Amino acid sequence: MKNTYYITTPIYYASGNLHIGHTYTTIMSDSIARFKRLQGYNVKFLTGTDEHGLKIQQNAEKASKNPKEYVNEIVEKIKFLWELFNIDYDIFIRTTDDYHIETVQNIFENLYKNGDIYKGTYKGHYCIPCESFLTETQLIDNKCPDCKRDVIIQKEDAYFFKISKYADKLLKHIEENPLFIQPESRKNEMINNFIKPGLQDLCVSRTSLKWGIPVKFDSDHVVYVWIDALSNYISALGYRNNRENLMDSFWPADLHVVGKEIVRFHVIYWPIMLFALNLPLPKQVFGHGWLLINGNKMSKSQGSVIDPIILSKHFSIDSIRYFLLREVNFGNDGVFNNELFMMKVNSDLSNLLGNLISRTISMVIKYFNGVIPNQTEILNDDMELINSVKNLKDKVTSYMDQLKISNALSEIFNCISLSNKYIDETKPWILGGDKNSIDRLKTVLYNLCESIRVFSILLSPFMPNTSKEIKCKLNYEIDSFDSISEFNGTKAGTIVQKGENLFPRINIEEKLKELLNKYI
Ligand code: ME8
Ligand code: MG
Repeated sequence: MKNTYYITTPIYYASGNLHIGHTYTTIMSDSIARFKRLQGYNVKFLTGTDEHGLKIQQNAEKASKNPKEYVNEIVEKIKFLWELFNIDYDIFIRTTDDYHIETVQNIFENLYKNGDIYKGTYKGHYCIPCESFLTETQLIDNKCPDCKRDVIIQKEDAYFFKISKYADKLLKHIEENPLFIQPESRKNEMINNFIKPGLQDLCVSRTSLKWGIPVKFDSDHVVYVWIDALSNYISALGYRNNRENLMDSFWPADLHVVGKEIVRFHVIYWPIMLFALNLPLPKQVFGHGWLLINGNKMSKSQGSVIDPIILSKHFSIDSIRYFLLREVNFGNDGVFNNELFMMKVNSDLSNLLGNLISRTISMVIKYFNGVIPNQTEILNDDMELINSVKNLKDKVTSYMDQLKISNALSEIFNCISLSNKYIDETKPWILGGDKNSIDRLKTVLYNLCESIRVFSILLSPFMPNTSKEIKCKLNYEIDSFDSISEFNGTKAGTIVQKGENLFPRINIEEKLKELLNKYI
């Protein structure tokens, strides 16, 4: 093992079913985690559920359940969803887990003893659905700037966290570590809109709320949900609880993946908590864009939701993974709609990838009884393809290092397109009809099989099922990351299998009729 890599997703609110936007965050993180594993890193990939707070308490009441019963059901659904989408997490944390509660209580007590938390009175605006305190200036038309709904006014005894004390230190850290907040645009937004105008002390406890983690030394209070939630990143590693302690090997985290609306919590409150605890800061917080539907952020509360489970009944998991990873490009928003999705599946997965594989395998079967031939003489005409395939690993790696997943995929698909062009230009069907060209045909088909092997390995983090199926078809054994740039990992003599068409073309018009109003 080369090194460790710790990556986290936001823990999802266990307040209802997840939609395809949430699924995006997790697929993105899963792909990064899988890519790091492929490179040989010892990876910990954390996901989980955020289970406290007023919204969940109210939802449970409405459903006539106690909150724990209510969240248990939701958590089961979320776990099922991750299984369906092939999310290969290492740790699933629930904020109602005992070890997490222990950590949060210890952190709160520690901050109080050090004087970073003090007792006072809170009066102000609070948005229940977002679980966030808002200052007068943050409100837009007296409504929550994030979800645009009414806020309530709250006045109660509360504990406050002296975050103002750490503002200069935070600003210095952000300025000295250009990779800490990515993309760059989010960093500027945080500095100019939040940090520079001045940080106010944060209210970190509630007495009106019951469904939360009690403050150990003052049990009328429960800990503010964001203090509770953010702590998950270290409680999962055994920080101040009796779980196995992985802090030495995995903290600081390499990457927190979060949606853009919660970057603020991760680059202001969380680093300041860590400063106060004397812990190093995560190396990077990446704020991805939203998946939009009809121009708006898809959101449970606003009713525009695409149910990933229903979607998966109509389309393969990998086609959904592919579309989302390709569509939401480095921090920008992406758009989901049925037609766009099917067009992309047809153009990339059926026409480029599926076609390349079925053409190649059919020809190996037709001309060599399904046995992959050996490479004979390499000609100049082969060099464009061979060099592109050999260089692909480095290009993809460099994009992945910058978290430009969409670019990494587009690099792979350019190369797939080049392989199709190689077939069109070398015309194996003509070589196959000419006895004197048999050696040439062998080389061409070997080169194609080897290119597909490389694509399959490089696609495995993004489309794990597809990669497995290609592996079955080509029957290749060598699948290491190191083998990618040599162009010799395919063994001549291996028997291929035709199998099923990986990505049958979708008849978009027909499918649209079938889907009409099914999941929007
Ligand atoms: O925020 N497109 O949980 P959450 C892309 N519990 N991403 C989206 C999205 C969309 N349409 N809708 C939601 C929380 N997300 C907190 C996190 S972390 C210590 C606590 C993303 O269930 C959203 O941006 O509301 C966030 O990153 C994640 O889904 C979980 O959202
Ligand atoms: Mg949210």
